[in-house]
Amino acid sequence: MNDDPLIPEALRVRENAWAPYSGFQVGAALRCEDGRIFSGCNVENAAYPEGTCAEAGAIAAMIASGGRRITGIVVCGDSATPCTPCGGCRQKLREFSGPDLIIRMVSARSGEVVLTRTLAGLLPDSFGPDSLE
Ligand code: THU
Repeated sequence: MNDDPLIPEALRVRENAWAPYSGFQVGAALRCEDGRIFSGCNVENAAYPEGTCAEAGAIAAMIASGGRRITGIVVCGDSATPCTPCGGCRQKLREFSGPDLIIRMVSARSGEVVLTRTLAGLLPDSFGPDSLE
């Protein structure tokens, strides 16, 4: 739904991104099993590989506060094409959600949802915690 508070939160937190090297700010906001919302932005580093993605920040905030299950997520970037989670973040999301997780991409230009995917759509046949059983 377009009045989901995850959308303004992803737009808000994106403004705090530290992205002086790529110039590409990303925000992510997720909801966990008890309804709480956590968010994160990308944090780049002069030692480039040490930078972290917005989704990773949101997941870390959730885990640090005791959340364990992601029930929805919005990712927000400013690009001509939808800013989808990178491959590594797709796998990070998999740890705390299942194939049915809805991932919505919002454009920072319009503030609108420009793409909706399931985790299974972005990461088919995924390897997750259950794969180890
Ligand atoms: N980025 C994210 O924060 N999330 C993604 O899933 C895609 C990429 C960031 C990483 C880097 O700081 C910048 O966007 C350009 O790749």
